[in-house]
Amino acid sequence: MIDDLSNIAHNPLPARIDFYPGDLRDPVFLKQTFDAVSPAGVLHFAGAVVVPESLERPLTYYSRNSYATLRLLGEMRRRSIDKLVFSSTAAVYGIPATGVVSETSPLLPINPYGQSKLFSEKIILDVQAASSSHHRPLRTAILRYFNVAGADQSLRTGQQGKSTTHLVKRIVQTLTGQQPHLHVFGTNLTTPDGSCVRDYIHVRDLVDLHVRAYRRLEVDPAPLLFNCGYGQGASVLSMVACAEQVSRRSLPTVASPPRKGDPVRLVADNSRLRHLFPDWTPVPNPLQTIIASALAWEEQLLARQMSPRPAPPPAPASDA
Ligand SMILES: NC(=O)c1ccc[n+]([C@@H]2O[C@H](COP(=O)([O-])OP(=O)(O)OC[C@H]3O[C@@H](n4cnc5c(N)ncnc54)[C@H](O)[C@@H]3O)[C@@H](O)[C@H]2O)c1
Repeated sequence: MIDDLSNIAHNPLPARIDFYPGDLRDPVFLKQTFDAVSPAGVLHFAGAVVVPESLERPLTYYSRNSYATLRLLGEMRRRSIDKLVFSSTAAVYGIPATGVVSETSPLLPINPYGQSKLFSEKIILDVQAASSSHHRPLRTAILRYFNVAGADQSLRTGQQGKSTTHLVKRIVQTLTGQQPHLHVFGTNLTTPDGSCVRDYIHVRDLVDLHVRAYRRLEVDPAPLLFNCGYGQGASVLSMVACAEQVSRRSLPTVASPPRKGDPVRLVADNSRLRHLFPDWTPVPNPLQTIIASALAWEEQLLARQMSPRPAPPPAPASDA
């Protein structure tokens, strides 16, 4: 795995998985890493991911998302690496008129994050089209994630980004006392309970889709592009109620004004995904599983932070 540690404090992987700390935009690093690994294909998750920050630092987002993708593709094509799975986002749809979006819905991102991801998609699709006459044409899968949440249920991995605005992370931070209350942005909207509606997908189900997409590319060159969501909306307040029920704790909330540019409702039409992978089976009780696994992971993170640090090694003996 490559990561430049811009949004994680340290390598989160077990020791048996090779970790290459570095920036995708650094051509020397990329060349050396690809020389060392000789990958058969690439799953490209890296990027800058915080929407409000993208409004303040657009250049960072175009650079970390679009330019990094361009550099990565350049290195892949130089080596005729022919399989790429790319993490895209529902933010490419902007504020949809209906709230339920299919892959053919208008692509109208409203912030640099969504725009930079859409540029990345276009770069990938153009390179893929141009490579069709090459001896190893590029095979691509673009996965448009909706709201990814939850942790590995055996707690090997979970969310640990240094900066995050994700609802479920904020919920478990509140449940564990790291913040006094949860802001609910928008409580008087045109939804049944007045709060925003999103399509939360458990990270395990998303990982499963990556494996399926990659395996499909191994046997079928047809480009894939599909929404990754359950096709079910859940409101912020219903997530709060679910969190209280799962944790058996109360979750204090504060009603706050809606955030600028937040769609009221954003839910995946996932028929393409269901058609591609008819036997894809989400985790049972996905929302409860999302909250329970995210909470268990957060508690593990906290316990690690509070455990005493190992004593520093003794100072070297003085020559004096
Ligand atoms: N989490 C979600 O709900 C969600 C939704 C839609 C799309 N996505 C996409 O999924 C991917 C992963 O998101 P995440 O939520 O795990 O975020 P994350 O911040 O935890 O992971 C992204 C990683 O990329 C690394 N990175 C950034 N720029 C880099 C560079 N130039 N070179 C090397 N590493 C770099 C960061 O250090 C970070 O660890 C992103 O591409 C994001 O756009 C996530």
